[in-house]
Amino acid sequence: MTRLLIRDLAQVASPAGADAPLRGEALREIEITANAFVLCENGRIAATGRMRDLGPLGNDVEEIDGHGLAAIPGLVDCHTHACFAGDRVEEFSLRAAGASYEELHARGGGILSTVRATRAAGAEGLAAALAEHVSWMLQAGTTTFEAKSGYGLDRETELAQLRAVRDAGGIPTWLGAHALPPEFADEGGDAYIDFLIVEVLSEAAAIAEAGDIFLERGAFDADQARRYLTACRDAGLALRLHGDQFTEAGAIPLAIELGARSVDHLEATGAAGIEALAASDVVGVMLPASALFLNRPLPPARALVDAGAAVALATDFNPGSAFCESLPLVCSLAATQMAIAPEEALSACTVNAAHVLDRADAKGRLAVGHDADVVLVAAEDWRHLAYHLGGPVVHTVIAAGKVAWESRA
Ligand code: NIG
Ligand code: FE
Repeated sequence: MTRLLIRDLAQVASPAGADAPLRGEALREIEITANAFVLCENGRIAATGRMRDLGPLGNDVEEIDGHGLAAIPGLVDCHTHACFAGDRVEEFSLRAAGASYEELHARGGGILSTVRATRAAGAEGLAAALAEHVSWMLQAGTTTFEAKSGYGLDRETELAQLRAVRDAGGIPTWLGAHALPPEFADEGGDAYIDFLIVEVLSEAAAIAEAGDIFLERGAFDADQARRYLTACRDAGLALRLHGDQFTEAGAIPLAIELGARSVDHLEATGAAGIEALAASDVVGVMLPASALFLNRPLPPARALVDAGAAVALATDFNPGSAFCESLPLVCSLAATQMAIAPEEALSACTVNAAHVLDRADAKGRLAVGHDADVVLVAAEDWRHLAYHLGGPVVHTVIAAGKVAWESRA
């Protein structure tokens, strides 16, 4: 038996409640235990509680001194594009000088420049790039991540991306319908969707857990999305949508119609969309680092939470619209720019994000029986996670009951 005791923690903080996803008032209920411990056994949480209630454990226990630290659940990033090769620092400079993201995309840059780099990387190059990105995420406290394909846009590279994500321990989502590849520039989106369904879907569905599409002007429309997502659903995939990033093009009604797990982005969502989403089981995944990075309006987070919507927070980590792997920074943005309390932000990037990935029974809480994924925050009060904007808040990361990363402080 492998045992790890994290002792003398200033706080243990975990989203409360048993159901996921959390909504409304329940989203801000964090159970806090002061002067506390977390005991991990064989990769699971065996007990948590107050130090004074900790009984004798024998001597086959590894110990971590938690003085001055607070424990929270390992963070869950439910929306990333971490499986990419190359970077887009050139484009970043052009955008900084005034070019818009959509213009660059229309000129064959943007997503398509990462497609060129990803196709050229080969399976080994791609795995190496992904491993580096996963180590960045781990250092930021992410112990569970989803990552999408969508930088292949051909059969071989889409499948290679999904395998790379799976092999790196991530949860793969098939985003075949991310952009129109150059090979289909003449035939158009309908023909490309046909190709995806006929030539790629069955193999993608054997690896991925969900199918996703970029429903937006300049990408795919609602009819194409309905066709693609229905085929994904029929092949056994859960459904996700990139929707309402720049315009409201029908993503929320379609997500509800098809019973999607989530609709992600929502920067352009208006009052009717907020109301419809709140009345549904679809989770609204907000990506404030992407809005910040593109200098776009932030999603209507407060209105969504107050209306009773189930929400999650994620990074959208990718080389073009959100070169940011840090969920602590996302929590800071939520608290400072979107009127989301640190408590709500924590639930949104732990238990609710785990729900989006169908892992809420094992991830996102410090609860007995859950996977022993724990972040030790470098402060006595766990809220420094959001409060210390861009600061070194992650002290130690424990994954499956083992230390996976430690700061050198
Ligand atoms: O979620 N909006 C579409 N796709 C990604 C960006 C991908 C990229 O720019 O490479 C997003 O923002
Ligand atoms: Fe995205």
